[in-house]
Amino acid sequence: MSRSSLRTAVSRSRPPFTTAPLGSMPAAAFLRSHWQRRARLFRRALPGFAGLHTRADLIALACRDDVESRLLVRARGRWTLAHGPFRHADFRGLPSRDWTLLVQGVNLVDERADALMRRFDFVPTARLDDLMVSYAAPGGGVGPHFDSYDVFLLQGLGRRRWRWGAQRDLTLVPDLPVKILANFAPARDEVLWPGDMLYLPPQAAHDGVAVDECTTYSIGVRAPLANEVVTAFLGFLADRVDLRGRYADPGITAPRSTARIAPDMIERYRALIAKLRVTPRDVEAFVGQWLTEPKPHVVYAPPGRPLASGPFARAAARSGVELDLATLALHDARAVYVNGERCAVRGAARSALAALADRRRLDAGACARLPSAALARVHDWYRHGWLHLGR
Ligand code: SIN
Ligand code: CO
Repeated sequence: MSRSSLRTAVSRSRPPFTTAPLGSMPAAAFLRSHWQRRARLFRRALPGFAGLHTRADLIALACRDDVESRLLVRARGRWTLAHGPFRHADFRGLPSRDWTLLVQGVNLVDERADALMRRFDFVPTARLDDLMVSYAAPGGGVGPHFDSYDVFLLQGLGRRRWRWGAQRDLTLVPDLPVKILANFAPARDEVLWPGDMLYLPPQAAHDGVAVDECTTYSIGVRAPLANEVVTAFLGFLADRVDLRGRYADPGITAPRSTARIAPDMIERYRALIAKLRVTPRDVEAFVGQWLTEPKPHVVYAPPGRPLASGPFARAAARSGVELDLATLALHDARAVYVNGERCAVRGAARSALAALADRRRLDAGACARLPSAALARVHDWYRHGWLHLGR
């Protein structure tokens, strides 16, 4: 299904995100006692939920080249992994059992998936990664493994048997295309029904096997490696570094060994490098920009004939605006960040753009009151295809 037909196929109003999908448990209690610490099974976490996608919907998504997907088949004890984009024909000869299709980032292309993910807004947006949806034929699953981040596994269609535990031994079976625990020893064993949910902290061992054909909605958390953060920060600094001075060594004496890097030379380089100062503002800007950087495969569709700023302002004051599903928007005390761009604004403009980042839309009234500095930004984002006029 194309992005536009998915959009029109779904409800135009978003559900109110006032209650966390944690059954009867308040979000504050969950964050205090379980988040990052302990697994928890929520029966009827989302009563009435039975998935948003059929097998055909997920196959259609897996055939798109702007969506990441994987197909994992287990036959005669051997795992075979293939990466999308797929063709419909790839799904025709599959066995009736023991395979699963995993579709990543469904929230970026499907409004209902985006709305579901936003129900987890008791976790800061900047911590949420994406919504992955899996379809599994009976017996299908990805095998016993652990993830390095927290995950909410919400059962859609059908039933899935989950086994999990907090084992220390995380040794993996070598030389497989997937991560499989060599010594899986689960402490719990439960069958999840539609609307039930399992929360797992990082490193929890788990294995979900489809009892019937089933879909599972995984809300994954972003937990970057220290090395990844520092590498990205060094790249960010490289783009903005602007130091004065140059290597200089007046008064040196002739070396005894001409190819030698003498300690005083190293000291002069150290002094040059020590000119680099990392300020809290650098870190602040880096965090906002880096966390809103879209993934490489994400594409935006700018309007074919964009409205100029005056007509755009009038149209926004009539219909409001909403961020594109794939737009990442965050804010801090000084700026609003959209798709890797920092936008330093103050006062009412800042509050309006921060509200847009939080709610992902501004209604007509809010658009009519937008200060000109904010309106100029919103118009820019509209021209990039990062934001659309409301419907
Ligand atoms: C799945 O949906 O099959 C896998 C989810 C997970 O184990 O993290
Ligand atoms: Co997992």
